[in-house]
Amino acid sequence: MNKHADIATEFTNFALRITSAPTRNMRRIDRETVQKILDTADIVEVVSDFVSLKRRGANYIGLCPFHNERTPSFSVSRSKGICKCFSCGKGGSPVNFIMELEQMSYNEALRYLAKKYNIEIKDHEMTSEERERESERESMLAVNEFAMNYFENVLNGSDDGRNIGLAYFRERGINDAMIKRFHLGYSYDRRDDLYRTALKQGFQEKYLFDTGLCYRSERGTVSDRFRSRVIYPVFTVSGKVVAFGGRTLRKDKDVAKYVNSPESTIYRKSYELYGLYQAKQAIVRKDKCILVEGYMDVISMHQSGVENVVASSGTSLTEGQIRLLHRFTENVTVIYDSDPAGIKASLRGIDLLLAEGLNVKVMLLPEGDDPDSFAQSHTSEEVEAYLAANEQDFIAFKTAILMEGVEKDPIAKSRAIQNIVRSISIIPDSITRTVYIGECSRTMGIDEKILTLQVSKYSAEHAEKQERDAQRERNRVSAGLPPDPADDAVTELTPVAGSTSKATAENSQSGRSDAAFLYPYERELIRYVVKYGMCYLCDVAVDDSGETRPMNVLEYVSQELRLDEINLTDPMMAAALDMSCRLALEWPEALENEKMRLEERRNADMAAGIDEIRESAEDIASIETREKELTARVNARYATAKEDFAEMFLQHNLLSCDNDNVRRITTDMVSSRHSLSKIHTKYTHIATERDRLAELVPLAVYNLKCALIECEIRNINSRIAQIYKSTPDNLEQITELLTRNRELNNLKKELSVYLGERILSPHGRH
Ligand code: UTP
Ligand code: MN
Repeated sequence: MNKHADIATEFTNFALRITSAPTRNMRRIDRETVQKILDTADIVEVVSDFVSLKRRGANYIGLCPFHNERTPSFSVSRSKGICKCFSCGKGGSPVNFIMELEQMSYNEALRYLAKKYNIEIKDHEMTSEERERESERESMLAVNEFAMNYFENVLNGSDDGRNIGLAYFRERGINDAMIKRFHLGYSYDRRDDLYRTALKQGFQEKYLFDTGLCYRSERGTVSDRFRSRVIYPVFTVSGKVVAFGGRTLRKDKDVAKYVNSPESTIYRKSYELYGLYQAKQAIVRKDKCILVEGYMDVISMHQSGVENVVASSGTSLTEGQIRLLHRFTENVTVIYDSDPAGIKASLRGIDLLLAEGLNVKVMLLPEGDDPDSFAQSHTSEEVEAYLAANEQDFIAFKTAILMEGVEKDPIAKSRAIQNIVRSISIIPDSITRTVYIGECSRTMGIDEKILTLQVSKYSAEHAEKQERDAQRERNRVSAGLPPDPADDAVTELTPVAGSTSKATAENSQSGRSDAAFLYPYERELIRYVVKYGMCYLCDVAVDDSGETRPMNVLEYVSQELRLDEINLTDPMMAAALDMSCRLALEWPEALENEKMRLEERRNADMAAGIDEIRESAEDIASIETREKELTARVNARYATAKEDFAEMFLQHNLLSCDNDNVRRITTDMVSSRHSLSKIHTKYTHIATERDRLAELVPLAVYNLKCALIECEIRNINSRIAQIYKSTPDNLEQITELLTRNRELNNLKKELSVYLGERILSPHGRH
């Protein structure tokens, strides 16, 4: 019973899924202000904040900030308002430059420039509540900015600061440049000096509490949180101070070593990485990030010249931090001090990095060293050399650690292998997975096939779980929004001639005639799978956040059938679907390989095109436009080739699969009409089936669902007829059947509303 009610819900879900396009709720800057920013920003001034420029003729030239180079190829033209690296190709307008370099969004880059040029941004579109929240944020940030300056002043300008704080940093070998760069500070050993100073300067008490800089005790007295500690401010990626860490200089155990700012509207610990603001340019330049534990580790490494270092600040890495990192690089090296317990504990956190698709390396330091002590006791050349020589691949590292000493214990060994296989299985890229499987098979002495099997089992579980979570989420989102059918919009389900009459002529209660009735609908649906299974169909919501992912035809059809627990009645169609699903397991890998092949071709095409442009163009501007055109052209070609490959993949494999029936129906389905439709497009620009999949495939699914309802209705009718004949006074059962019949008819109407005038009969189209 419930099954069909689900069809309606699912129908609604589908409609919602494809109609509610994600809209990003971003505070827009009004056009006038944008124009003002663009007019004011001077490319030479903007670039000069990051690159030291020398005049050359009408232009300026310097070392490219986007890649490592010795001879300058980064050129800036003030008159044209653009910059461009002739070696790596990056550059553009001031906004482009800031976006690329600081990894900011368009909006953020505009705000950055507005700030630089003291242009006020009026946020017209904010509601008063938003404005209030915003000004609250601003106020908190302002208080923090004040506090940072205050702590710095205490460190550098007071006796206590110099004698205690500064002396401490000196003793730890930190130089003035680092103290300045990381805005290190010191707080007096006084109860409320910061509090009183802040109030005197006009800051509101509320924000001192909100940021956690001060707190009120139960007795009502107000205290500063940071007292008699050296201070490490925590910056966001764009350089705002959102928190502080304060380290005590006392050795006794009854004081906490660190006091940290509490979480607040401006500070979410699990979304910040210490040092990222100072490290991000080096991370992008080296395309790698080094992960360490503590504040001092970051600063000492930085001082030794290794600047692409960030710290998770003592806690294990969170997903938010990893996402943040991923904006800057794919390559992460985690440094461990060689304490075995610590290493085992943090192996799990590293799986998160793998799952995010990052390439993870690990490095052990010599025994007894942490990054701070190591950087302090070696020259920067030694540090760099050690890094280069001692990085290990994470999976190999984990294998070595877990396999150590389990040789003689089969159970422990098998547990270790499972553990490693799990790590491999969460790597999103299938080629990488395959490489690791090969390596592990060699190091662990286990058959590659067995490992592959295990890995795909875990991957499938993983994917299934994600899909289940996502589905639960979608259902939650779209629950409670039933359709509201208007009667005049109802279109009757078109009966399928031939098979319908045949089905009604016979006793439709039998399964066989149901099958005959359903056959054309099933065949039509499977035809889409066979011909276009791997083709992109639509984007589906991943969760509330408005994120979407692409879904292909096969995925969509399988999901629809699975959700409504529909089994195809025709064994050949079922076999074709089954075979398609099995072949689909090979699809990611095949696609990845094809992508690499195409990528190579694309790069070759691009390189040739760029050479041609460089040889023939005269100025930066024309190079810009022509390169843009080239990129668009080459990308379009690449995209078409990828689509064609998607279209051919299933057909091709089904035509050579080991099931005679599947081969035969595939041949039927893909022959002749296929090439015809292509010719059509070429000369008359008629949209092909492939262009209209997003409309046709859901239609085929719902035609089948309607047909299933129709079947049940007809079965009920014939049962009613039978009961009338045999036991005409069995009113109770007849009423029950009639009620069910009415329900089904309503359901059918509801479905039809969605199909509307698009309703098509599959009959005659095969
Ligand atoms: P460590 O104890 O290794 O400190 O904690 P550290 O930064 O190396 O400090 P030094 O070298 O003794 O001066 C690593 C990180 O864990 C966080 C801090 O972010 C620290 O940098 N932590 C540690 C806390 O937040 N609170 C604590 O009590 C201890
Ligand atoms: Mn330390």
